[in-house]
Amino acid sequence: MTEQVKLVESGKESTFPVLSGTVGPKVIDVRQLYAKTGHFTYDPGFTSTASCDSAITYIDGDEGVLLHRGYSIDELAVESDFMEVCYLLLYGELPNAKQKVEFERSVTYHTMLHEQIATFYRGFRRDAHPMAIMCGVVGALSAFYHDSIDINDERQRMIASFRLIAKMPTIAAMAYKYSVGQPFQYPQNNLSYAENFLQMTFGVPCEPYKADPVIVRAMDRIFILHADHEQNASTSTVRLAGSSGANPFACIAAGIACLWGPAHGGANEAALNMLKEIGTPDRIPEYVRRAKDKDDPFRLMGFGHRVYKNYDPRAKVMQQTCHEVLDKLNKRDEPLLQVAMELEHIALNDSYFIEKKLYPNVDFYSGIILQAIGFPTTMFTALFALARTVGWVAQWNEMIADPSQKIGRPRQLYTGQPYRKFVPVDQR
Ligand code: SDX
Repeated sequence: MTEQVKLVESGKESTFPVLSGTVGPKVIDVRQLYAKTGHFTYDPGFTSTASCDSAITYIDGDEGVLLHRGYSIDELAVESDFMEVCYLLLYGELPNAKQKVEFERSVTYHTMLHEQIATFYRGFRRDAHPMAIMCGVVGALSAFYHDSIDINDERQRMIASFRLIAKMPTIAAMAYKYSVGQPFQYPQNNLSYAENFLQMTFGVPCEPYKADPVIVRAMDRIFILHADHEQNASTSTVRLAGSSGANPFACIAAGIACLWGPAHGGANEAALNMLKEIGTPDRIPEYVRRAKDKDDPFRLMGFGHRVYKNYDPRAKVMQQTCHEVLDKLNKRDEPLLQVAMELEHIALNDSYFIEKKLYPNVDFYSGIILQAIGFPTTMFTALFALARTVGWVAQWNEMIADPSQKIGRPRQLYTGQPYRKFVPVDQR
């Protein structure tokens, strides 16, 4: 017997099934609500709405748990690597040794871009924000890769997925090179994913480039921590764009655009700029006061989360990685880290943040690491987009492969004018 809930209105009863997943909250299936009651649900911001069923990622916000296909982010970040996590997100299982080698090879041999795409960059100003370039270049990929945009062909969907995962580091690195006036670096097939990205970003044609293994490991771990995160705003954007049948490159470009917002992926850039603006620990109380002031739009960037009402498990790993990288680079006394740790301490002991369950999120420490490695703040969200691409394409594939999927088309509560007759201009 399916569990049900009953809605009683003006003496009329309507029942709706309650569906259970593997773990986590059950859902009330309201797909027949309008047909049975003539009412819509109302949930701006989707605080209590499940938009789909998915087997990819599970978050328990109260317990601070993040699982990818059942594996904990804490274990994946330490025991696994980004290519394995990509395979896991796409196929549902960790690869065996042979599968891993084949997968990495397939990704490696898709890292080059069509040579004409390089000319796109010359159309941008040198000071163009890398996220503006990413939106434009990724959206334009469908103009070059016509053989992988038939979304009804599973093989083409996978080719497009590999192309997107493989080419995002190249596109992001080229955006950085263009901004500093250095020549583009081609991908090197003998390098790992993270090392290849670092050499395309920081290498120059004049001399060999060898990335520090500690930095490579940190980069790879940062990619893992950003890979996927359930139905967040940008992933929901990718799913909604994909539900219309738009090609995968257009869908990922839409996800990049959404991620750019400072309330979402843009928070890593905003968080570091905030730490720079605070500057020294003695100025923290003023910013905490502003964050609590309802009349002040200022918020502590890198704090709070729609789902995590406990510590973001990614922030813990990011903080550990932050100390590793700063130690390796002899920057353990980095003033921004001192400010960040003092801000975290103050906020976590302040009644406002305790009451509202505001904890550091994935964006709070990442910027300190990325700046220490040498990335400008404008590149931080581009790195988030690079890493999140695998989550976007995994979620997009899951949706397209679902035979029951249909175009997403929310309704509304209309609060405008009822019908009124048109008035000619000479009578207004
Ligand atoms: C990401 O969804 C995901 O999974 C996203 C992400 C992913 O991996 O995809 O995890 C990545 O986007 C992380 C979040 C990065 N954003 C920031 O760090 C920006 C700062 N944080 C806030 O903008 C905010 O916390 C959000 C947007 C993250 C969450 O907003 P919600 O869930 O809509 O919560 P809210 O705005 O309703 O806040 C609840 C209360 C409010 O106070 P009241 O109106 O109840 O009095 O908490 C307050 C807010 O004013 N609040 C903050 C705050 N965040 C929330 N107050 C001060 N500083 C903050 N950072």
